[in-house]
Amino acid sequence: MMNLRSVASAAVLAFSLAACGKNAVPPAAGAGPEQSATASEEKRAPVGDAFTYANYMDARVTNADLDLTVDFDRKVIDGVATLDFVREKAGAPVLDLDTNDLTIKWAQTSAGDGSWTPAKYSLGPDAPLKGSKLEIEIPEGATKVRIAYETSPGAIGLQWLDAAQTAGKKSPYVYSQNEELGARSMAPLQDTPAVRMTYTAHVRVPKGLRAVMSAEQDSGPRDGDYTFKMPQKIPSYLIALAVGDIDFKAISNEVGAYSEPSVVADAAKEFEDTPQMIAAAQALYGPYRWGRYDMLILPPSFPYGGMENPRLTFLTPTLLAGDKSLVDTVAHELAHSWSGNLVTNATWRDAWLNEGVTTYVENRIVEKVYGRERAEMERVLELKDLKQTVADEDRPELTALKMPADMADPDDAFSDISYNKGAFFLFFLESRFGREAFDGFLKSYFDHFAFQSITTEDFVAYLKSHLMAAHPGAVTDDEINAWVYEPGLPSTLPVPHSDAFDRVDAERADWLAGKIAAKDIDARHWSALEFLHFVGSLPDGTTPAQMADLDAAFGFTATKNAEIAFAWYMKAIKAGYEPAMPAIEAFLIRVGRGKFIYPLYAALKENGREDFARQIYAEARPDYHPVAQRRLDKTLG
Ligand code: BES
Ligand code: ZN
Repeated sequence: MMNLRSVASAAVLAFSLAACGKNAVPPAAGAGPEQSATASEEKRAPVGDAFTYANYMDARVTNADLDLTVDFDRKVIDGVATLDFVREKAGAPVLDLDTNDLTIKWAQTSAGDGSWTPAKYSLGPDAPLKGSKLEIEIPEGATKVRIAYETSPGAIGLQWLDAAQTAGKKSPYVYSQNEELGARSMAPLQDTPAVRMTYTAHVRVPKGLRAVMSAEQDSGPRDGDYTFKMPQKIPSYLIALAVGDIDFKAISNEVGAYSEPSVVADAAKEFEDTPQMIAAAQALYGPYRWGRYDMLILPPSFPYGGMENPRLTFLTPTLLAGDKSLVDTVAHELAHSWSGNLVTNATWRDAWLNEGVTTYVENRIVEKVYGRERAEMERVLELKDLKQTVADEDRPELTALKMPADMADPDDAFSDISYNKGAFFLFFLESRFGREAFDGFLKSYFDHFAFQSITTEDFVAYLKSHLMAAHPGAVTDDEINAWVYEPGLPSTLPVPHSDAFDRVDAERADWLAGKIAAKDIDARHWSALEFLHFVGSLPDGTTPAQMADLDAAFGFTATKNAEIAFAWYMKAIKAGYEPAMPAIEAFLIRVGRGKFIYPLYAALKENGREDFARQIYAEARPDYHPVAQRRLDKTLG
C-alpha cells in the first residue's frame, strides 16, 4: 500500500511534551465544575500534542461558527470565526489558538449575552508546520471569542483552481484538505485532534457555484449563500469545504455523489456498492452515526486517495477505473466513520488508531461485500508493502505503532506502519481471540469511546480490561508491547495467504523462465488486484524487451486503472522502458495524488532521468496542491 510519509522534514520543532515516556501520564488538569465530560473522559488525563499551540487544558473550544466569504479573484477566504469555549482551569486568562498564514483583523469576547467587547490579542512568530499562536485575553465571565480574519492565497490547507484547471473549464474551484495541520490555515482554531467541537457555517460564494462541507448540507437553492451544521463533536481536521460547479447524483436515499457535472454519473455508477458497504460495517460495528454518507469526487490534483470528512468523504477521481476495482478506498474512508471520526487519535503520535484500525475495518468490509478472496489478496499486498517499509526505514523508532515524542512532522505517523502494521496488530488479536469475541470487542470499543479522542494507552488499557481480562492466557502483555511499542515486525505476525496470487506467481515464473510468451499467460480470470500483483512483483532486472512483450499482450502503458498504471510506470522507469515515458509524463501532469507522484518523481531521479523529472515538474507544478508542491520543491524545485 501507499506510503504517505514525508521524505524529510526541514524543521525540527522545539517543544516540550507533558508525556514523554511511552507510558508516562501527564499531570491531570483541574476539572472545572462546568466541565461536561463523560465518565470515561474524566478518568483519562489530558494529553500533550506537540503540533498545537492550543492551551486546551486551560480553556477548550466547544463550538465553532464560521462566517466565510470565498473570494476567487484574490484566492482568499474572508472570515469571522465565533468560538465557544469552556474553562478547564478556573481563572484561565487566555485562549490560545492555532493559525497559519492568517491575517487577523480584530478579536472580541462576549459573556454570551449578545454584547461584544474588543479583546487584547497577540499573534506569535511563524514556525514551520505549526504556524503562529494567536493568544486572546479572555476576561472573567467570557464564554465566546470572535475573530475577523483573512486566509492567504498560499494557505497550506486550501487548493485554489482556476477555471482552466477544472474538468468543466468554466468555473473556479477551491477545496480544503485539513488533515493534519491544514485547518489552522482556514480559520483560527484549536487545531489538535485532542479537541472536539461542533460547528456551523455560513458560506458566501459567487452565484451559480455550490458550496459543500463536512456537515449537513444546505438543501436550499443554488444561490451562492449556504449554511451548514455539524451537530456532532469532531476534531478540527475534519472540518472541510469545497466550492465549485458541483452537481449531485443520488445512489440511494442516504448515499450520493457530488462532483463536477461531467463526472457525476460515472462516480455514482462506480460507487454504487457504497450502501452495501455501510450495511456491512453496521452489521459488524454498530450504527453509522453521521446521518447521510455522501462522496465528493475532486479534481485530479487532490493529493490523497480519499479523506474521511464526516458525512462527505473526499475522493480522488483516479478511483474511477470503470470496473469498481478501486473502491476499497471508499471502504477505507467509510470505515473511518467508526475508527477516526467516532473514536479519534488524540495526537498524531497515535495515528495508527485512525489508520491501522481503519485498514483492518476496510478489509472486513471488503470481505463482506466482495468476498474472502479479494480481502485476502489485499492483505497479502499490504504485508508485502509493510515488510518493504520496515526494511527501508533507517529510523527504527518510526516502526513502532506509538510514534516517538520527538516526531518531527505529523506526516511521519502516516506510513505503512500506522496503516498496515496497525491492521496486522488487529488481525493478530482477531486470530488469538477468535472472530466472534474480537468483533464484539471492537464494536464495544467504538461505542465506549464514541465521539472521544483517545491515545494508544487508552486503547491498550481498554483491551486489557475487557478482552484480555475475559480471555486470560490468550495473549500476553509482552506480545502486546512488542506490537505497540517495539520497532519492526513481531514474531507473532499473522501471515496471510492468497491462492489466487499463487496462480499469478506461477504464470509470472513461467513467463520469466521463457517457458511461455506474455500472450500465453493465462490471465482470463484475473481481477485488477491480480494484475496489480503480477506487475508489482516483476523482479528488478526485467528488460525493456520483456516489458514490451507484456505491454503488447496487456496494454499496461495505456491502462485506465491508476493503480496498475502506477505500478507499471515504476517498473518501466527501473527497466528503462522508453515507450512508457510519454504516458508517465501525461500521468504526472494530469494526476496530483501523492501516493503516485512522489514515488514516480523519486524513481525518475534515481534512474538517471532527473532532467526529465524537472521538466515535467515545471509543467505540472501549478496544478499540484500546496502540500505536494512543498514536498516536491525540496527535491525538484
Ligand atoms: N486520512 C487519510 C488521508 C490523509 C492521511 C490525509 C494523512 C492527510 C494526512 C485517508 O483516510 C487515507 O488513508 N487515504 C488513503 C487511502 C487508503 C485506501 C489507504 C490515500 O489517500 O491513499
Ligand atoms: Zn485513512
